[in-house]
Amino acid sequence: MSIFGAISEQQFLDEYWQQKPLLIRQAFSNITPPFSPEELAGLCCDTDVAGRIVIGKDKHWQVLNAPLTEQDFLETPETHWTLLVNDIERYYPQLGEIIKPFRFIPDWRIDDLMVSYAPEGGSVGPHTDEYDVFLIQGQGQRHWQLDPDADSQCCLSDCELSILDNFNVQKEWTLEAGDFLYLPPNLAHYGVAQGDGCMTFSIGFRAPSQYELLNSWLDHSAEKKRLTQRYNDQKRPTVTHSGEINSSDIEGIKTLMRTALDDDQQFITWLGKYLTEAKNDQQTLYSHTDHVDDDIAFTRNPAHRLAWLEQEDGLLIFINGEANHAPLESKAAIEYLCQHYEFPADILEEKLCDSHFKDLFAQLMDYGVVEVVED
Ligand code: SIN
Ligand code: CO
Repeated sequence: MSIFGAISEQQFLDEYWQQKPLLIRQAFSNITPPFSPEELAGLCCDTDVAGRIVIGKDKHWQVLNAPLTEQDFLETPETHWTLLVNDIERYYPQLGEIIKPFRFIPDWRIDDLMVSYAPEGGSVGPHTDEYDVFLIQGQGQRHWQLDPDADSQCCLSDCELSILDNFNVQKEWTLEAGDFLYLPPNLAHYGVAQGDGCMTFSIGFRAPSQYELLNSWLDHSAEKKRLTQRYNDQKRPTVTHSGEINSSDIEGIKTLMRTALDDDQQFITWLGKYLTEAKNDQQTLYSHTDHVDDDIAFTRNPAHRLAWLEQEDGLLIFINGEANHAPLESKAAIEYLCQHYEFPADILEEKLCDSHFKDLFAQLMDYGVVEVVED
C-alpha cells in the first residue's frame, strides 16, 4: 500500500503530481510533535530559524518575522493567528518520518518541512504557492478551501503578504489529524484552523527556474574561468544592410550560448553541487537526540543534502554542495547511506566489513553528516 491508499505512487505521479489536488484521509497515524507550542515559539526567539507569526482575517493581515520576542507572543490576540516555522526538520530530525513516505520523489526536489501552529481561526490567508506541497494535518483540524480559477496576480494592496483579493471557494474539506492534501503549484488555497491546537506540516518542493539555474551555472563558470570562447564569424558573407542584425548572426550567437552548457563533466559537477547546497547558508543542523530506538547507533539529519550519480569510471557523491569522487564499488554503500536516516548497530557492523562502505561512512562522519547517538 502506498501513502495514497489504493492509488499507487506511479499513478499519483501520472495523474495528480503537478496537475490536480488530491485528498487522502487517515494516511498517518499518531503524528506526535516532538515539541510543545511553547518550544516552537522559543525556537523563533532563540535561533536563526525562518519563522513568523501571521495575524489576521478577511482583508486585514499582519506578519511578524523571526527573530520574535516573548512580547510578540504576549501581544498576539486569543484567536486568528498562526505561527509558521520553515526547515523544522533541521531542528527536529525525527520529523524525517513525515517525509519518508514521499521519497519516491528524489530528495533534491524537496525544499523543506514547514510546521504551522494555530488557535481557532488561524490562517495565512488565501494564496498561491509556486511549488507543489503536501499539507499534512498533524493535530487538530483545518478547513481547506480551493479556488482553481483565482487570479494569482490580484492581491490585497498595502499588505506585505501576497494574499488574494478575490477567492471564490470551489472545493472544500475539513482535514483531521492524519489526513493530507496534495496541491500542485499555483493552485489558490485557504486553510483556516478549526478549534484550538491546529498543527499542519507542509512538505514543500522546489523546481529551480531557468534564471536560478543559469545564474548559478554562470557563477560556477566564472569561478572556473570558463565560458571564455568568443563569437567567431570567419569567412562571413558581406552584408548590404550594415544596420541589420541578420538571422545567421542570431543563430550563431544562440549556438555559442547553447554550447556554453556542453561540457558534460563540468555540467554534472555543477548540478550536483547546486542541488545539494545548503539553503540560505543555513548550516546549523541539530542531532537526533530523542525517540531513537536502542538499536540505532548512528543517525543523519534529513536536512543534510546528499546525492550521487554514476559515471563510466566512478561515482560522484555530493555532500551539502561539495563534490567527491568514489569508486564504482561504493555504489551499494552510497545507496544505503542516502536512503536511511537511522543506522542500526547490527546492520552497520556487517556493512562496515566492506572497505568501500567504511571509507564512505568515515567521510560522512568527517563532514558531520552521520552522527553517533549519544546515550
Ligand atoms: C499553514 O500551514 O497554515 C499554511 C500552509 C500553506 O497554505 O501553504
Ligand atoms: Co500555501
